[in-house]
Amino acid sequence: MANEEQIEAWNGSMGEKWAERQDRMDALLEPLSRLALEHANVGAGEVVLDIGCGCGATSIAMAAKGRSVTGYDISAPMFAAARERARGVDNVSFVEADASRVALEPVGDVLFSRFGVMFFDDPVAAFTNLRSGLKPGGRVCLLVWRSLMENEWMAQPLGAIMAFIESRGAPNPRAPGPFAFADKDYVAELLAKAGFVDIGFEEIDGKLELGSSAADAVREFSEMGPLASLLEQANERDKAVAAVQEVMAAHVDDDGAVRMGAACWIVSASVA
Ligand SMILES: C[S@@+](CC[C@H](N)C(=O)[O-])C[C@H]1O[C@@H](n2cnc3c(N)ncnc32)[C@H](O)[C@@H]1O
Repeated sequence: MANEEQIEAWNGSMGEKWAERQDRMDALLEPLSRLALEHANVGAGEVVLDIGCGCGATSIAMAAKGRSVTGYDISAPMFAAARERARGVDNVSFVEADASRVALEPVGDVLFSRFGVMFFDDPVAAFTNLRSGLKPGGRVCLLVWRSLMENEWMAQPLGAIMAFIESRGAPNPRAPGPFAFADKDYVAELLAKAGFVDIGFEEIDGKLELGSSAADAVREFSEMGPLASLLEQANERDKAVAAVQEVMAAHVDDDGAVRMGAACWIVSASVA
């Protein structure tokens, strides 16, 4: 089955943990999310497809402004949170389906995603399908991470942990995962192959507030996300956690919170 591993992961502990922390995740991503929503500039009466909408934050934000939004996702625990949060909000609906294969009608004005499109096994096929959900002239606005090395919030703690992990060789940077769309030439090529035109990239740099203190940030990294599973495999877990603590401590601001640099693309494209 296409996208099997990701569907399993997002329906398992990854999706459950994200859903438990939905407000914290939304607060963390807010500075980047705001820029993407501004960039999408969805107008009155426009129809939006929010791909990989997760717990629904961006779908609900757009619907609250009167836009008509359908969120697509494959994570049951995240959808449960999205439906709960969307109670009383008009103009928003959710479809539990693999966005790469779901049957779509060409009714959309905007294809939007906040970090929800980097998980397809076959991105060209997925975006060819997603294009079928847009009207002629419809546009795309995708917020995706740039490279791991440009995202110090992940690269630095990861680097600290890797000293305690047996090397398994370099991973494929385009394998489904958060950083799969880092290479803009690759993304431009796949969108062109999927039939999009006017493909463009805007660099977004910001800071993520990872925790209210170094200890809070370390706790969060040890409980959720790729670093949590690596910490489970570390030879000397306590030393690996201490190394992450050291990284976090070096980024404590005057108010005690930990903030580190984040780097994204806002990808735009349209349908001829
Ligand atoms: C990093 S989360 C982002 C969630 C949400 N957009 C947000 O910013 O809070 C990635 C999302 O993509 C979803 N996803 C992954 N593969 C998918 C697929 N094939 N079809 C639809 N959604 C998918 C996951 O279930 C998850 O909700």
